[in-house]
Amino acid sequence: MKILTLYYSATGNTEKIADVITKKLRELGADAERKDITPYNTRQNEIDLSPYDAVIFGFPVYSWRAPREAREWLYTLDGRNMKCSMFFTYGGFIIHPAHYSTQQILEKQGFTVVSSAEFLARHTFNLGGWKAMEDRPNGSDCEVAEEYAERTYRRFTGEDNGILQDLEKTEYTEEFLDEIEKFRFKILTQLPTREGAECSLCGICEESCPSGAMDAETGEADPEKCTACLACVSKCPEDALKINDMKGSWEYKLNIENISVDEMNKKKSRIYL
Ligand SMILES: Cc1cc2nc3c(=O)[nH]c(=O)nc-3n(C[C@H](O)[C@H](O)[C@H](O)COP(=O)(O)O)c2cc1C
Ligand code: SF4
Ligand code: SF4
Repeated sequence: MKILTLYYSATGNTEKIADVITKKLRELGADAERKDITPYNTRQNEIDLSPYDAVIFGFPVYSWRAPREAREWLYTLDGRNMKCSMFFTYGGFIIHPAHYSTQQILEKQGFTVVSSAEFLARHTFNLGGWKAMEDRPNGSDCEVAEEYAERTYRRFTGEDNGILQDLEKTEYTEEFLDEIEKFRFKILTQLPTREGAECSLCGICEESCPSGAMDAETGEADPEKCTACLACVSKCPEDALKINDMKGSWEYKLNIENISVDEMNKKKSRIYL
């Protein structure tokens, strides 16, 4: 059975889980491949899914859903009744709408969604001073990823005939979630900036930017396109790009989410069947 894992990962968490899943699928006997669809250019040409028997989609959660560019890209795919699964990495805050909203898109595109999973992972905004899920994904999260790969494989092969049932419908509309997405820039993040730091003009920030927002020459991000994914900040080999200091918003975030660091750290990765 040929399985393709397509993943979007700006700072490496989702890629790490995709690696664990791919390795496990191979151990189980699958012909498993993985493809990174994070850089803008990788999503400009149609991806031919016809050589594959099943697909797994892996995304980080951005403002309660899969990233905007990833959602837009999903609408370009033709599922042809193919079985698929999805998984998410998230920084310990709200995740549930991501499962439901992505399932809706995949089903609309003709896929049959057989399972889903969520994995705790270092929050991207730790790059600006937050302290969420600093040591995740850890060994236990990776064990859940292996179990997810195994359960999903059984559904792909038909040994288990089930499809995804566990998800509750989210009470949030897509319009409300669009507003949540805009809120991030109003209150938490500013645009990444080089602010005169030394730069070798290697171009990595521009190549790795998922939304085509970064201009390596100027070191400026287009405010209309930038999603604050921080791929450019985390991948710059000169450590030249920075995000604003977000230490001040960390306590604020814990307060509005009404959660403590201890409570967050107790959260566990989980599988939905
Ligand atoms: C713009 C943005 C929005 C985010 N929104 C959420 C969120 O709503 N809930 C959450 O728990 N984590 C959120 N995160 C944290 C990421 O989901 C988490 O760090 C993820 O593992 C990043 O994956 P990556 O390393 O593969 O890019 C957000 C991160 C970014 C950059
Ligand atoms: S990745 Fe860093 S060093 Fe390379 S062009 Fe961008 S800012 Fe300059
Ligand atoms: S410019 Fe914005 S969207 Fe592009 S990589 Fe940097 S943070 Fe992400």
